[in-house]
Amino acid sequence: MLYRNACIENSERLSDIRVHDGKFTEIGFHLNLHENEKELDLEGKLVLPPFVEPHIHLDTALTAGEPRWNRKGTLFEGIEIWSERKKALSREDVVKRASQCIRSLAANGVQFVRTHVDCTDPKLTAMGAMIEVREMFRDKVEVQIVAFPQEGILSFPRGAELLEQSARLGADVLGAIPHYEFTREYAVESLNLMMKLAEKYDKLVDVHCDEIDDEASRGLETLACRAYESGLKSRVTASHTTAMHSYNNAYCCKLMRLLRLSDINFIANPLVNTHLQGRMDTYPKRRGVTRVPELLEAGCNVAFGHDDIFDPWYPLGTGNPMDVIQMGLHVTQMMGYDDIVSSYLFCTHRAARCLSLGEQYGILPGRPAHFIVLNAKNWYEALKCRAEVLMSVHRGEVLVKTEPRQVKVQF
Ligand code: FE2
Repeated sequence: MLYRNACIENSERLSDIRVHDGKFTEIGFHLNLHENEKELDLEGKLVLPPFVEPHIHLDTALTAGEPRWNRKGTLFEGIEIWSERKKALSREDVVKRASQCIRSLAANGVQFVRTHVDCTDPKLTAMGAMIEVREMFRDKVEVQIVAFPQEGILSFPRGAELLEQSARLGADVLGAIPHYEFTREYAVESLNLMMKLAEKYDKLVDVHCDEIDDEASRGLETLACRAYESGLKSRVTASHTTAMHSYNNAYCCKLMRLLRLSDINFIANPLVNTHLQGRMDTYPKRRGVTRVPELLEAGCNVAFGHDDIFDPWYPLGTGNPMDVIQMGLHVTQMMGYDDIVSSYLFCTHRAARCLSLGEQYGILPGRPAHFIVLNAKNWYEALKCRAEVLMSVHRGEVLVKTEPRQVKVQF
């Protein structure tokens, strides 16, 4: 198949893309059509590598209001509500909701998903169900599963055992939640324990790290230090790190050196943390998102995630990365021209690095033919106009096609 006249990642000159046997075989200008090859003129539309959703909770999605609504809008009330809802979990319930969400994500151009799955459940119901879902969608939407100890590793009965059991069951990534552990000692110990398990079972790491407005929450320094010393480095991701928003500048300045050395990834979740953080503040109210421009300037990798869709922590959301990027740019004040033009990177290349996708990702000859076509001439226009994802192609197969919306104003 020959795709003609593609604007690849904001390029000024339009290119042709040849796809054969599920791979990109040639990218260039005015390529000759092979015998029996089909062609499609993309008419200068923007082509990007697919969106990557690096941080979402598919096991909790679509449960908002069950058994009750989060009235205060805090993270901790969300955890309490989920703890009640968790008792009613069944395999069918998780498979149905997660599948529905994966299809919504796919409709928005997402082809890679990292989902956190609560493993503080003695039956590991959601973990088992999500492993099934991962296999159901293989070769369409690639799902990575994080064993996420929502109620703690050392502060939940048999928490460490359940984390290890999840690693053996087939989770791809191990997590932790240092800010929720009973004590600072537990926070440090839980991170050490989880990192040892990650080495033992050869897993990636993604921690819900310091998702609190407490400036004394310093799980990040422990995580980064262990990532550096163990050599796991870029295989480790720190999600949220909202406490960093409140760190004093002297401490943060010192911390940046370790973060750079550690080479770990960061994922900010601007929709959800703008909603959840600062809830104990009167005025001024903190924005609740980590120091994104400063991390980027220090050379760290930062991606954006959706985090929750209509669940006890976040009552809205459709799984569209454009919503995430839009909010992220506003809340971090990254609204300069260059910031906007390059902002697709938060949900494409930078997110792909968090998932360690390596050579599975990117529009280059020899790599799997994963890409999306947006109804815009470049990313600035796509974001400004909320362009539709006209086509989503995975391993050369068209997964999604969208007819552009037509609105006729009658005056
Ligand atoms: Fe999360």
